[in-house]
Amino acid sequence: MNVTVELEERSYDVVVDVDARHQLGELIKRRAPRAKSVALVTSPSLVNETWFDIESGRDQAVFLVPEGESAKTLGSLEELLEALAQGRLSRDDVIVGVGGGAICDLAGFAAATYLRGVALVQIPTSLVGQVDAAIGGKTGVNLRAGKNLVGAFHQPLGVLCDTSVLDTLPERERKSGLGEVAKCWLLEGRPVDELVTTSLSSLIELSVRLKADVVSNDEREGGLRVLLNYGHTLAHALEKLSLRRGPDELRHGEAVAIGLAFAVRLAKELDLVGENEVASHDAVLEQLGLVTDLPARYDPEELLEAMGHDKKAHHDLSFVLPGPSGFAVVSDIDEAKVRDVLERFQGER
Ligand code: GLY
Repeated sequence: MNVTVELEERSYDVVVDVDARHQLGELIKRRAPRAKSVALVTSPSLVNETWFDIESGRDQAVFLVPEGESAKTLGSLEELLEALAQGRLSRDDVIVGVGGGAICDLAGFAAATYLRGVALVQIPTSLVGQVDAAIGGKTGVNLRAGKNLVGAFHQPLGVLCDTSVLDTLPERERKSGLGEVAKCWLLEGRPVDELVTTSLSSLIELSVRLKADVVSNDEREGGLRVLLNYGHTLAHALEKLSLRRGPDELRHGEAVAIGLAFAVRLAKELDLVGENEVASHDAVLEQLGLVTDLPARYDPEELLEAMGHDKKAHHDLSFVLPGPSGFAVVSDIDEAKVRDVLERFQGER
């Protein structure tokens, strides 16, 4: 399946297919005909996978960056940029991110900034990468102060979502990716019964279509795109607190699953939805096997503080929430109400 992200002269296709990685050479020939060199940005564990037989049809070199979320630091970015410069990557050349969401974000940011911008192709190899991170041109790294606080919009020339590489994905990674899939399913208001009969590749396709459609209509998050942050206000706060314990403490999709279960409860508290919506969210999350407990180690006060500083929060507590006329950003929510729902949610499980 090919889905086009429609951005006039910067439009590109997201290919979702078995062995899509083998389309890289043809993509570079078509979209970057002057490229002589290709920099494959990936991690030590991925470069050893049997599927790492990626051929660009140009001189190519592999640049290794740390695994997972540890890749998304200014330190890793600096090392990568120095290595690209040592390797004499030129303006006509192409950076290819091969990895999960974190590697796609880092490789994308390197492409946005190296020589003030070079061409980028994304080959996302995790579920989070395929359904979200690699599509839409958001690139960046984390700061200690929060997730994704430094970055740039830089659209790729194409995204190759190779579904066969998911076969070797560790179970935790796969599960985590389903957190973003659940978000898409819920944003589309689909029923849980339909979920039972939907294959993983159809779930990927559906999520990619939603993301491509939203980005085509709102590249820079002037309105519609913000809805893709459903569940993310609490998720980003959880991730920020988790990063202090270590990069592997909580995966993005795991945090999103908890954030979705919380958001619908907050919407219920604000009389935006009824109990049936809470039940249908819980059913979708459960059907996807997602854990939505808010562990006791997260202090509600610290979470509230972190949520107030989320970059999407614009200096107050704001959330994407479902309501009578669909999803919308709800701002200026009374902190006491959020605390109350958070404490009850934590106590529920
Ligand atoms: N992950 C949300 C977005 O790309 O807008």
